[in-house]
Amino acid sequence: MTEIPRDTLQEQTFYEQVGGEETFRRLVHRFYQGVAEDPLLRPMYPEEDLGPAEERFTLFLMQYWGGPRTYSDGRGHPRLRMRHAPFRVDRAAHDAWLGHMRVALDELGLPAEQEQQLWNYLTYAAASMVNTEG
Ligand code: HEM
Repeated sequence: MTEIPRDTLQEQTFYEQVGGEETFRRLVHRFYQGVAEDPLLRPMYPEEDLGPAEERFTLFLMQYWGGPRTYSDGRGHPRLRMRHAPFRVDRAAHDAWLGHMRVALDELGLPAEQEQQLWNYLTYAAASMVNTEG
């Protein structure tokens, strides 16, 4: 009887299923191209160079979906609502943020089920980040 390699019996993480680091890098890179052009969002980012923000968000998403824990090694517990408190995240910022994310996600061309899973999370997370009425 042929032995089944142990690896094939182990469940893949969502991170692995969607293509690992490369996929998350592509997603967040495209997202930040949108942010860079956005008159509402761009001024919210404290640093002149969006590169470090892009890196933090990429590492966060990789970790969230089961990839390496590099984000927390460098940044500690995410505490995302707290980290967004200095920024005015109102409905307009929320909509703009999700709009760029929608474009970036579409361009990844993931299988429908994986795309839906990511989108559900992103819309839920974005709603929970709103901290200002109006
Ligand atoms: C709803 C609209 C949102 C706006 C306007 C917004 C805006 C921002 C801004 C201005 C920063 C600071 C940039 C930096 O220096 O890193 C930031 C950081 C960050 N955001 Fe958001 N954000 C939003 C939603 C989200 C969501 C939904 C997530 C997660 C799914 C997220 C994850 C992060 C992460 C991981 C960081 C870096 C945290 C750190 O380690 O300091 N953001 N965001």
